[in-house]
Amino acid sequence: MNFRRIEDIVNFLEKSDWNSLCQHDNALEVALTPESIDDIFEMVTKNTDSPLIYESGCGSGVTTSQIYRYLHKKGIKNYKLVAHDINKSLVESAISKFSQDNRIIVELRSGSDYSDIPDRSVDGIFSFNTMIPFLYMYYIKKKNYSQHDDYLKETSRILKEGKPLVLTYLRVPFVLIKDSKIKKDIPFQVKLYNEHNSIEPFLRLLEFVKPINNLDYLEELLDKGYTIKGPRKDSSRDLISFKAFLKKGKEFAPEDWLSGMGYKFVEPSTFTKGHRISYKIINEFPDERFNSNYSLVKGEREIHLYLKVEVSK
Ligand SMILES: C[S@@+](CC[C@H](N)C(=O)[O-])C[C@H]1O[C@@H](n2cnc3c(N)ncnc32)[C@H](O)[C@@H]1O
Repeated sequence: MNFRRIEDIVNFLEKSDWNSLCQHDNALEVALTPESIDDIFEMVTKNTDSPLIYESGCGSGVTTSQIYRYLHKKGIKNYKLVAHDINKSLVESAISKFSQDNRIIVELRSGSDYSDIPDRSVDGIFSFNTMIPFLYMYYIKKKNYSQHDDYLKETSRILKEGKPLVLTYLRVPFVLIKDSKIKKDIPFQVKLYNEHNSIEPFLRLLEFVKPINNLDYLEELLDKGYTIKGPRKDSSRDLISFKAFLKKGKEFAPEDWLSGMGYKFVEPSTFTKGHRISYKIINEFPDERFNSNYSLVKGEREIHLYLKVEVSK
């Protein structure tokens, strides 16, 4: 069986379990990409002489050894690495690997059970090939993996500010950085390291709204309870005019999608004609968007929508 996409893993898990998945080498391809590993560890070790690191789903300790080797290569000697898994025999095998080193603790613990760990006490959490498919199944497929309900909430609770939760899936790291300025249940900023990787499942996972460029997707959002707020201050008239823009081929990109995809922002000034501008260089050209008069609203949450700047031909 060849595992290439998150859906392959999910399909496999519909009929089987992780321990059988572990038998497939290509499902276990390890984790961080060389370009991103320094960046990630810089976040982990920033402002601390003795980082506390958790690894959720350590299995028999193969990926724990990766973290260990990296720390040593970088000369980081003072740390505590807590690796944990729910599989007793794998935990025993990992314990035997690291029994000589008292900086590494291997525990039988589920990734959704961090209740004994204080708020803002951890410098980094890694989960290689473990939590993403579970979260995906829970959020997207609505399967009831109850032990994962609060995984993201719990990880954001125990992480210190600016510290990463690194979820990798087949060499693709999705890095979520604790950022309390984000006023959401789960205050994470998403950082991508390779723009060719598909972030799609993950954005859906975190309930990110994608750019809106067709009526079907707009209907989907309206069904989920979003409303359109616009310049007319009347939701049904604003919806009509918003739909008219979509019919003309316009695309509205949500602000948190833009920041998740690595766009930068420029605050309004006379130079930007009073607009907040968002931009990213793609294939050597700037892709620019400006803050439109429309936003999406659901409960307390308001998501500003950005329009693509027309490039004159
Ligand atoms: C695909 S393996 C990954 C092992 C290792 N991190 C690697 O990449 O080689 C997934 C591991 O997650 C463990 N696991 C499953 N659910 C878990 C949970 N709720 N908390 C912690 N570990 C879990 C399984 O027992 C298994 O060892």
